[in-house]
Formats: sequence, C-alpha cells, structure tokens
Amino acid sequence: MPALQSLSLSPADWWNHAVLYQIYPRSFADSNGDGIGDIPGIISKLPHIADLGVDALWLSPFYTSPQKDAGYDVADYCNVDPIFGSLSDAEKLIETAHEYGLRIIVDVVPNHSSDQHPWFQKALAAKPGSRERARYMFREGKGVAGDLPPNNWESVFGGPAWTRVAELDGSPGPWYLHLFDASQPDFEWKNPEVWELFRSVLTFWLDRGVDGFRVDVAHGLIKAEGLPDEEKLHHPPLGNNGPFWDQEGVHAVYQEWRKILESYGPDKMLCAEAWVMPLAKMAHYVRSDEMHQAFNFGYLATSFEAEALRSIINESLAAFGGVGSPSTWVLSNHDVVRHATRLGTDFVSQGQPTGIGPRSPEKPDALLGLRKARAATALMLALPGSAYLYQGEELGLPEVIDIPDDRRKDPTFFRTHGERYGRDGCRVPIPWEAGAPAYGFNTTGESWLPQPQAFAELARDNQVGDPDSTLELYRSLLRFRNQEGLGKGSLVWLDGFSSDVVAFANGSVSVVSNTGEQPTARPDGEVLVTTTALGDEMIPAHTTVWIKTA
Ligand code: NOJ
Ligand code: CA
Repeated sequence: MPALQSLSLSPADWWNHAVLYQIYPRSFADSNGDGIGDIPGIISKLPHIADLGVDALWLSPFYTSPQKDAGYDVADYCNVDPIFGSLSDAEKLIETAHEYGLRIIVDVVPNHSSDQHPWFQKALAAKPGSRERARYMFREGKGVAGDLPPNNWESVFGGPAWTRVAELDGSPGPWYLHLFDASQPDFEWKNPEVWELFRSVLTFWLDRGVDGFRVDVAHGLIKAEGLPDEEKLHHPPLGNNGPFWDQEGVHAVYQEWRKILESYGPDKMLCAEAWVMPLAKMAHYVRSDEMHQAFNFGYLATSFEAEALRSIINESLAAFGGVGSPSTWVLSNHDVVRHATRLGTDFVSQGQPTGIGPRSPEKPDALLGLRKARAATALMLALPGSAYLYQGEELGLPEVIDIPDDRRKDPTFFRTHGERYGRDGCRVPIPWEAGAPAYGFNTTGESWLPQPQAFAELARDNQVGDPDSTLELYRSLLRFRNQEGLGKGSLVWLDGFSSDVVAFANGSVSVVSNTGEQPTARPDGEVLVTTTALGDEMIPAHTTVWIKTA
C-alpha cells in the first residue's frame, strides 16, 4: 500500500495512457449505514484503489440532487448532496486522492439540470417570454389548443421528450424539452447565461483541485434549428441519429472550455460522453482545441470476436490518431450491462440499453461470461492509450438480473412501463467482505438496491491473495502494464495465428487473445499473465495471454 505524501502525480498529458477507475458514489462504500454510498466511504477505501494500480478516478455526480436519475439530475452544481456528505468531504477526497498519487476527474452535466434547480423553479414561476424561461427549452404545443407536443422527439428513457406545464393561474402553458426524464429539463444553449453558468461550474471545481471533467451527454447540448421532427424514430434515440445529437454548434462549447482548463495549467482534461458513430465523427470532440479524449463506445459495443475486435481497434487507432490523440478503451460503466454478463450472452449492448431482468429472453452463462470478460479485459489493458474501468469489474461482478420490480430505481424502467429494465443491474452496491452485513458495503446491512447472494463469493476479501481471482488478475495486468509501458506503447499486429485469434505486439510484450472455441498454439516466451490456467503449450478457448518476448 503506498505511503501517503510520498507519491507524485503523473506528468501533464497523463490522460493519454492512464487507467481511470470509475466510482459510482451511491454504490461504492456507505460510511453511515443509510444504504447509500457516500464520500467518506470513498475516502476510507482509497488505499484499495491505489493498491489496484490505477492512475486516476472518475466520480459520477455527487452534487445536490433529488436523485431522480441517480444524481444526473443536478439541482446545485457547486455543492454536495447531503446523502453523499458535505463540500468539505469532497475537498478532502480530492486532496486525499492526490496524496495517493491518484488524479481525480468529476462529472459535469451540462445538457440538463434537475427540475429542482432554482433556475427551473424560477422559470415555472415566471411569465411566458421571460428571461427565466429563456434558460430552458419551452415551446408552444401543436394543435388548436396547444395540447400536442411541439415535435415527435422521444426521451432516451422512453416516452415523449416533452412535458406540458401549467401557468400559475392553472391555465395550460407551454411544453419543455427533456431528452431524458421529465425531471431533467434541457438547457437552452443559445442563451449566454447558460454558458456563463457552466464557466462558473468548471472554475468552481478546478479551484478545488480537480484534474478534469467527464462531460455528460456531450453531443446533446445544441438542437437542430427549428426543432424539426425526427424523420426516423430510433429506440432508444442514441448515437448521432436525430436532430438533437451531434449538431455542429456543440463544438464551440468545448473550444471555450478547453481554454478555461488551460488557464489552470497543462494537466487538466476533458473526456466526452458522446454516443456518436462512426468513431471518426466522435473524434471531432477530441480535436486539438477541444476535449482531450472521448469514451470509445464503439469498442464497448463490440463482441468478443477476433475479426470484430481487430476491426474496431484499427478503426479506433485511425479515428483518434487522425486528430493526434491515442484512443481510449472501455468495457463497462454505470449505463450498460456489465461485461461479465454481456459477454455471456448474444446480447450486444447498444448504448444505454434495455438492460437484463428476470423476464428477459437473454439467459447469460455466468461462467462463460466471466471467462470471456477476463480475456477481454486483458486484451483491453494491453492496448496503447488510456482505459476506463468501472467499479466492481475488478471483482468480476455480473449484472444483477433478479432485482424485483418494486426495488428498481432507473427511470427507464418506469417510463417504459417495465418494458426496458434499464441500468439498475450494473449499479448494485459493491461487496467488500463476504461475511459482513451488506457484504461490507456498510455495517447496517441496508442497501439501496438488493445485493444477490452470489456477491459473497465475489467479495473483495475473498479474492485478495488468491492468484486465480479476478482481483489479482487485474492487479497483475495493471502492474505489468505500468512496468512495460503498454499505455504509452504502440500496436503491431502479429501474423500467423488462426482467424479466431487477436495477436499483437506492444513493445516487448506479445498479446494473444484466443476468442474461439479451439485451443491455439502459444508463442515462445515468458508468460506474464494468463486469464485461464495454461495446461500445456496451447492457449485455451476464450483466453488472453501476455508473453514477454525480449
Ligand atoms: C449519461 C449518464 O451516464 C447517464 O447515467 C444519465 O442517465 C444520462 N447521461 C443523463 O444525464
Ligand atoms: Ca451513506
């Protein structure tokens, strides 16, 4: 475990080769036993994260929020919700993370606020045409009485993207746009006041020492002129389809933000959450005067199949290389079915997905899923560039499928009347200790989402020191990745393997991923890591090995 104060932070362009660990505060560690994770809980577990060998943390929102979308509905961007702690707890977290040598980036949510944000409350209380209303996207309805929504747009979470308000005298008023839940009204980014608000949000957190921001719905801020109907409806409306995604005007926002970050020094970064395909378009967000990186969702959505993997890796290197940047890589986050489950089904995640639940047709194979997930992670962590890990994947946690309907919290479940399960299954609190209440998430046994019994075996304390465990696999991968400089390296494809195999060299490490069912020959050299036990000179099915060649 690293000694406090003894570590120095990595160099200015740290993000280009870093491994960032995503903390979802509600579900990480609960210090006061109310069943919801909090910042003091995170601080108490920092030694474990440093020990894992990652370089940086990304924290999902902990700001003041009624939690209608688990904190992505922000009512005050410059304060901490009491369920998570206080502003001074957040300051202490930033400071302590730095003492452990961990950079820390936080979420900024600029597409929408909570309906409890003072601006939206003032907008509701104000008159049509007022300055207060002009900060959000209010529009008159269609039809003789204005009782039809202004256009046909749908919410990402299901149902219409418009909700009608009543004026103070009770008469029916205009509609407001919400690309997500009705409690998340979209800002009007043509309004300079909105630009000013977010300038002050960025500087507020930069002044408190954060190393950068993950930008929520980065491709959604600007809507097409005139808010035209969507011609072809997509379910859910993701990617760059539709008049609300990836409009050219959005880039000016990040060009300005980049300058704000640069005024704080060369080591501050922005990462785009932009579900935009193809990757060459996503890479526009990473041009030299905009953000520093973007989540590679094309990679996340790729199945564990050699040809598909080779092709998405080539596409990623070309797309981000084309704007002078390394690629990022990611397999899991708080919006998608965990990869230990996803890879055990034929189900391929399409962005914020339908989720998996008790009535789903997908019947994941847990053993196969975990085996493939370990192999997929070992492949990912050998790629040059930076990688994002999601809390719990280092334990091999599966998606929790059997959450009862009455315990679900994701607005997707309610807005689709249960048709889509949504994302609760990847957000279940982390098991730290097999024998403790709530598996060590807290000491009371409370948990905002029910934890399955399978979490006992996967609890962290069961895995520490067990060389076959997923936790020790991640620790080894991260140690050798650092030692061999793989994040800063480059990829050279290796020939001579069967078509089911992904094989490349990165420096003096050969990485061989057998995605097929049949064993394949293993190249000579010292095996640094293998994701399943090696019995002979072969690499078994669904296995990745790292081999030191020189
Ligand atoms: C993307 C976030 O990752 C997701 O959790 C959230 O629901 C939406 N953006 C809306 O903010
Ligand atoms: Ca708590």
